[in-house]
Amino acid sequence: MKRFKILFSGILLIVTAAFFISSCSNNSKKSKQTKKEKTKMSITRENFGKTKQAKQVYLYTLKNENGITVKITNYGGIVTSLTVPDNQGKFDDIVLGFDSLKSYTSEKYINACPYFGALIGRYANRIAKGRFILYGKEYKLACNNGVNHLHGGIKGFDKVVWDAQEIKNDSIVGLKLSYHSKDKEEGYPGNLLINVIYSLNNKNEIKIDYKATTDKATPVNFTHHSYFNLAGAGSSNILNHIMMINADKYTVVDNSLIPTGELRDVKGTPMDFTSPKTIGSEIAKVKGGYDNNYVLNKDSVKLSFAARVYEPSTGRVMEVYTTQPGIQFYSGNFLDGTITGKKGRIYKKHYGFCLETQHFPDSPNQPDFPSTILRPGEKYHQITIYKFSVR
Ligand code: GLA
Repeated sequence: MKRFKILFSGILLIVTAAFFISSCSNNSKKSKQTKKEKTKMSITRENFGKTKQAKQVYLYTLKNENGITVKITNYGGIVTSLTVPDNQGKFDDIVLGFDSLKSYTSEKYINACPYFGALIGRYANRIAKGRFILYGKEYKLACNNGVNHLHGGIKGFDKVVWDAQEIKNDSIVGLKLSYHSKDKEEGYPGNLLINVIYSLNNKNEIKIDYKATTDKATPVNFTHHSYFNLAGAGSSNILNHIMMINADKYTVVDNSLIPTGELRDVKGTPMDFTSPKTIGSEIAKVKGGYDNNYVLNKDSVKLSFAARVYEPSTGRVMEVYTTQPGIQFYSGNFLDGTITGKKGRIYKKHYGFCLETQHFPDSPNQPDFPSTILRPGEKYHQITIYKFSVR
């Protein structure tokens, strides 16, 4: 009887333990499932208001499984917000911008010309005196930067309403933006059909894929103009960010920031970011601050590493990869504290930096720079990836 009792209690113990283990593992499975369900990749759309021409504009929120969110509006293809975690798992918005369409379309903002988070085209950066000659014919562009043409002119792609289409598959969430830039728009020749896809994956990469075709030869040079501050938008300046740019040379410019045609070695100058250093370490030696096009080290037009930025107080890291030959490093020199952005934060000098992947400025007037001319029958295709991680 005693032996039977021991055997019975033994069996009872095993059964209870088995039940306990299985219920625990079920619970953990359930909690994992709920966790996964909570952070599924998603894309949502909300109204973002109407333009002055009464066009409805939307704001799309892309989210990945790690909780990273990117908000993009089809007005100007602007990234209005980008939240990523720091090394403690705390999320913060790391791009400068506004909460409302009204702020993006206000005269005060437009006159200040910062181009926060926008898609830039038909030609990123400057074209000297807003003119170029193509097949013997002179074209005159809208001039909006003194005597020069900057970032597509008075009404560049950053100020137009794009058609938008949501994308979702197993590996990405994305937004396809399309725009038909008409022949003679801002002075450019040819009807240009553009598709830009912004996408976010679970490797914390934001990919921008630009495609275009034309019916007349035209210069084409697109970029993206986010102002990053990896410590949090509007929290401080970016001078303590540690930056590395994969470029041994940069394009030398004159006083109005137009390239002279010379490609100069960065070695031994404040322009040198081939080894990581803080943005602030030598900025005082650069007149006006950094606003320069770097010639990326690459031997093909394939996607390759362009730059890495690390912010020590949060551990956030951003890497840039691109198919483009150049990158404009702009240290937010023209921000002057007159613009108040999200959360009522004031954007002062050097409160954000831009890494604008691109062809070199003024290429249509510089025969030795890689060509930016797109001809009928050809396909323009460029890719840039911004990848986020922590240290
Ligand atoms: C680019 C230009 C700068 C400035 C900013 C926007 O980076 O090179 O000179 O125009 O855009 O303010």
